[in-house]
Amino acid sequence: MRANASALFRTTFGVAPRAAASAPGRVNLIGEHTDYNGGPVLPVACAVRTVVAVGPADPGVLEMVSTRDGQVARIDDRASRPHGWGAYIAGVMQELVALGAAPVGGGARVAVTSDVPAAAGLASSAALTVAAAKALSLFAGARLEPRQLAGVAFRAEHDHVGVRCGIMDQMCAALAKPGRALLLECASLAVRHIPIGGRLLLVDTGTRRELAAGAFNERRAECEAAVARLKVELPELIWLASWPAAWLPRLKRALPEPLRSRALHVIGETARARFGAQLLARGHLKRFGGLLYESHESCRRLYACSTPELDTIVAAARRAGALGARLTGAGWGGAVLVLLGPGARRAGKGEAKVVREIQRAFAASYGREPAISSVRPSGGVRRELVR
Ligand code: GLA
Repeated sequence: MRANASALFRTTFGVAPRAAASAPGRVNLIGEHTDYNGGPVLPVACAVRTVVAVGPADPGVLEMVSTRDGQVARIDDRASRPHGWGAYIAGVMQELVALGAAPVGGGARVAVTSDVPAAAGLASSAALTVAAAKALSLFAGARLEPRQLAGVAFRAEHDHVGVRCGIMDQMCAALAKPGRALLLECASLAVRHIPIGGRLLLVDTGTRRELAAGAFNERRAECEAAVARLKVELPELIWLASWPAAWLPRLKRALPEPLRSRALHVIGETARARFGAQLLARGHLKRFGGLLYESHESCRRLYACSTPELDTIVAAARRAGALGARLTGAGWGGAVLVLLGPGARRAGKGEAKVVREIQRAFAASYGREPAISSVRPSGGVRRELVR
């Protein structure tokens, strides 16, 4: 259960906050590791949210508290270098200052409550930065559009904290609509909202990963190296995702392993995400689900971002007749998304069978049961009442 950010603000700082906002976590349906390669993604916002309540502080000073650690952190922009989650808030503040949308003097008190689990593949940092951007800009009297909030949040994480993420998470936290998936073309930033039939489950392996560390940045570097080599063949190429599908034999000749596998994943996943969005829009859930299984296989084999725990869950879902299943988010731990058919009565039985088989298979291999929850596609960032 999410605690009340306004109440946390009051008990910590002894006064009422002046503005508050919340933003959701996200679950990506398909289009994995395509965002930073200029391809499409298709996430939904989920019901878990982060709430940020803010009020005035001395100029240049950030005083922050979160239910995550209960500590009050104080950052003076002249003295201390922020670290931990406070670095994200400091990055948001700097970006708002640059836009002329920050509270006077660039200082604030900030209280954060959240039920988005950290490092579980649900983009908890984007929920934090988008909610903070909205709350702080409201307090400053500035009205930023959702896309501007996403941009502030992205630059805070990418440029200030140094996580080389793409733009998917922040755009989803800012623009998502209830009951819809967000088709986002990451090169043009064009969006479309697509109604979702079917039901979604999230199966959490309980294994966590740190994005800033290792594998994620390594994959990004591999994609950049692939583009550099492919530019010899096609100097106009900017995004790996734009490599023409008809030229795959040429790509295979031009790239050594592992760059070849990484590029084949990105190009295949780009096609799957675009086709998947069309299928979803027309209600062809079974074929859409088939693409989810293909996507997982591509993540596992070509992008090498799966884990045995994730594979065990996907295989169990398939055996039990789920329409589709795949790892969601960056991978290397985190959660699996499972797609089930619509219709409460018939699907109810099917769901029980899928859940049982996943629990059985996971417990047989790992001696514990994974946490399973249903995903309710929700809305993006919003203002919250200050209480
Ligand atoms: C992380 C990043 C996203 C995206 C996914 C992989 O969640 O934050 O931008 O790259 O990995 O699809």
